[in-house]
Amino acid sequence: MASRYQDVYEGWKNDPDGFWGNAAEEIDWFTPYDKVFDADSGAYGRWFPGATCNTCYNCLDRHVERGRPGQPALIYDSPITGRKASYTYAELLDRVKAMSAVLIDNGIQKGDRVIIYMPMIPEAVMAMLACARIGAVHSVVFGGFASKELATRIDDAKPTAIISASCGIEPGRVIAYKPLLDGAIDFSTHKPSKCFIVQREEVEARLNGERDVDMLAAMDEALSSGRDVPCVPVASTDPLYILYTSGTTGQPKGVVRDNGGHMVALKWSMNAIYGIDPGEVFWAASDVGWVVGHSYIVYAPLLHGCTTVVFEGKPVGTPDAGVFWRVIAEHNVAVLFTAPTAFRAIKRDDPKGTLIADYDLGTFRTLFLAGERADPDTIQWAEEHLKVPVIDHWWQTETAWAIAANPVGLGMLPVVYGSPTVAMPGYDVQILDDAGHPVSAGTLGNIVVKLPLPPACLPTLWENDQRFKESYLTEFPGYYKTADAGYMDENGYLFIMARTDDIINVAGHRLSTGGMEEVLASHPDVAECAVIGIHDQLKGQAPCGFVVLKSGVDRDYEVIEKELVALVREKIGPVAAFKIAVTVDRLPKTRSGKILRGTMRQIADGEEYKMPATIDDPAILDEIMEALKEHGVG
Ligand code: COA
Ligand code: AMP
Repeated sequence: MASRYQDVYEGWKNDPDGFWGNAAEEIDWFTPYDKVFDADSGAYGRWFPGATCNTCYNCLDRHVERGRPGQPALIYDSPITGRKASYTYAELLDRVKAMSAVLIDNGIQKGDRVIIYMPMIPEAVMAMLACARIGAVHSVVFGGFASKELATRIDDAKPTAIISASCGIEPGRVIAYKPLLDGAIDFSTHKPSKCFIVQREEVEARLNGERDVDMLAAMDEALSSGRDVPCVPVASTDPLYILYTSGTTGQPKGVVRDNGGHMVALKWSMNAIYGIDPGEVFWAASDVGWVVGHSYIVYAPLLHGCTTVVFEGKPVGTPDAGVFWRVIAEHNVAVLFTAPTAFRAIKRDDPKGTLIADYDLGTFRTLFLAGERADPDTIQWAEEHLKVPVIDHWWQTETAWAIAANPVGLGMLPVVYGSPTVAMPGYDVQILDDAGHPVSAGTLGNIVVKLPLPPACLPTLWENDQRFKESYLTEFPGYYKTADAGYMDENGYLFIMARTDDIINVAGHRLSTGGMEEVLASHPDVAECAVIGIHDQLKGQAPCGFVVLKSGVDRDYEVIEKELVALVREKIGPVAAFKIAVTVDRLPKTRSGKILRGTMRQIADGEEYKMPATIDDPAILDEIMEALKEHGVG
């Protein structure tokens, strides 16, 4: 079948309001919008102003009212605990209403922020939908972040409440969340008035008097009395959620998502990009703490009337590298979305893909990869063994859905390894040089999107319009800066090569080297430091920290290095995967004092490098090479 992509993209370009107006017909609005797009409000315009709506209504109620009450909405599969559960749309709605009742009974109101710090259990999804239902703004914090990171988010979002669980479970260890939560609240200046705790069998959290509520017990009460909590109408432009993502400093950016535009774009993406129909099973093997989890575990599949899978496990080791195939076969998954790193882990443990033959993957149609560069080896391995199309697509926390993809539902375009394919309708992607001039096809440059951004993309950062404008809109006036560098070939295929800032991507997780440097610099023995991302076979990148100790420090440097590794784990969390700290006498710098991070990375990755013309003292590069060798790197 010839792809309709070109026609659809041209159609959008010629009449963006008509395009998004059509897409908006798929959403149930309480009151209609005044116009599709108002170019005069917000930093670059706002989508569907004037409308009122409710995202939870569109995810649940309307499916229960119109033909899907008995269809599974959410399947929970937890190989790490051995538990499984399934909730129909009607059952999920009842539980979300019960959780909404608990929230409003405890004083949570429309516009209040609620932080959700949860493992991958159904209640995490219920919590997000319950907030959406009552018009509260959720902010999910990934369970792998430490107390200090949680505290930073508490102080920025100023939540009225936190919803959490007694524990998370990682292979070989149970992580009690309550001490982390209490520690974060001790650190933070802002204090939430309520904490709702889901008690899990593995750990019973001690609840603190007036502040803490046993969420499941309170929900049971609401369920048994059949509490009906109606959906609160919110403005299309009201925030649905805030999701913090790494910036260039330790202060994360609070990406704001609105209600109306978000629903319209995500609903459109399900058929056009993922080629999936209502009633089918869509599985995003990610975590609700990341944007992939927000968009494609929770909101898009439910908006579309699909069944979503909440998976609490790892691609390998829970119990083996066949678990993805078991879940696909057992739950009739049609589309799987995950990060390339998951496939690298599977390929490492089962290089010949022998475990695949144990399962009937008859319903499985397409694999989508995102979150980091998909290396051709991994794509080819997956194609060869799964015998389904493997689609790389590129997006960011900021956008909530793909900027570039191969739109399977519009008819697949030829796959070009190393490219996430073409710009999606809504995105006018261009490549500019540093002075802001367009470059020719095949030339590397800054990847930008001509304003306005399409629906679902961030309108601003939480209570920080200034940082939003400075971070994204100022450097290239009239464009959104993606902070990715790459090129576009003569067929419009995009190639994403690297970040232009200090963000690194570890196992598909976005991390700030600046944030890690702030932690290293806080160690009393450290005078100066630099963190870079070096190549890692499994995780894509891994952080590597170089430290110069203060003069006069005569403690064993190996002890200090261990303390530094422990300090990053304590302050940022295990997810930072910070394992290499290297003590050096000096850092290589330009004559103007800028640290030569690029050259250090090339040395660590064992690449050929050119001596930077501006280097102050070339001998330092040899010292770096020696120190890395001592640590088994390079
Ligand atoms: N709570 C607490 N700790 C967590 C956690 C959570 N929710 N998630 C991860 N961690 C811990 C891990 O246990 C690990 O701890 P360790 O240093 O003691 O081993 C550390 O954080 C680093 O985690 P990670 O980088 O995920 O490495 P891993 O070795 O545990 O797993 C993969 C590697 C590839 C299997 C895993 O990263 C993966 O499945 N990734 C792909 C899917 C994905 O989530 N992508 C994200 C966006 S699409
Ligand atoms: P996050 O906001 O965590 O989703 O991370 C977004 C960043 O991950 C992007 O800016 C890219 O640097 C990187 N990224 C995501 N998807 C891809 C992809 N398909 N190819 C290359 N890089 C990607």
